[in-house]
Amino acid sequence: MNEQYTQLAIQWFPGHMTKAQRMIDENMKQVDMVCELVDARIPHSSRNPDIDRLAGDKPRLLILNRIDLADPEVTAKWREHFKRQGIAVLETDAKTGKGVREFPAAVRSVLKEKIAALEAKGQGNRPLRVMILGIPNVGKSTFINKVAGRKAAIAGDKPGVTRGKQWISIDRGLDLLDTPGILWPKFDSQEVGESLALTNAIKADVLDKETLAANFMLRLRAMYPGAIEQRYKFTPDPEKNGFELLEDAGRKRGFLISRGEVDIERMASVLLSEYHDGKLGRISLEAPPAAQD
Ligand code: G4P
Repeated sequence: MNEQYTQLAIQWFPGHMTKAQRMIDENMKQVDMVCELVDARIPHSSRNPDIDRLAGDKPRLLILNRIDLADPEVTAKWREHFKRQGIAVLETDAKTGKGVREFPAAVRSVLKEKIAALEAKGQGNRPLRVMILGIPNVGKSTFINKVAGRKAAIAGDKPGVTRGKQWISIDRGLDLLDTPGILWPKFDSQEVGESLALTNAIKADVLDKETLAANFMLRLRAMYPGAIEQRYKFTPDPEKNGFELLEDAGRKRGFLISRGEVDIERMASVLLSEYHDGKLGRISLEAPPAAQD
């Protein structure tokens, strides 16, 4: 980051963190594998390294969600990046259901050794159990609902299953825990905090929306200048700071307060909500580290 960036204060309320962790710990004992949902636009920032400890040696599937909003070329690079690390990946748009149909096959592929071992012991009928995990607002509930579909059968009470806990039969012999585990996002840098705020995983303080939007303008200018040109009809000046770019965009939009002064606050809100709605095009905020080979 250069000096054009302004420090952003992010309001952070850890709240139910301990409860969420306890829930994950308890359920972990009952599942055969975990599926970690991340935002395809920020696969690095929307992961929480705690999952390594929480999941232990359980098999894992990484789900890159919101592919409809992410840059397809960058998503392809992430797919290769995780593949090289031996991590199984599924790409989805949980909102429309794209990619969700491949979920049972992806789960079975990750669990193929487990399935073979169960069959060898004559326990081939024992259902496999899966838990969805992810940071807030990444699409966990939407994903579970899509996987469950209208035909979803609630597997219901089973011996040894805590009362109230529901398993959804997603496929023959494949059960999904209906309550996802909530992981806390970690942000050890300003940039990660901003990426999380831009994708609505955390909330920036109302007053700081302008700073968030101003810094986002700088990221857009560096990575997707065409998006600014197309949406806001001006070529971003390389010398200007983010607030000045917001001002230019606001002027183009006609967001004026008095005597020609631009309503930057309004422009900031518009920029953030237009990114959220995908109106700036498909924009990824993070690319994987360059391949070493
Ligand atoms: P959570 O359980 O992880 O907290 O997330 P949840 O399913 O509630 O999803 C949060 C928001 O993200 C929802 O939007 C949902 O529609 C949206 N969403 C989930 N998956 C996708 C996806 O793959 N693509 C897109 N574009 N959106 C997705 P919302 O807050 O209800 O409103 P809105 O964002 O739809 O306006």
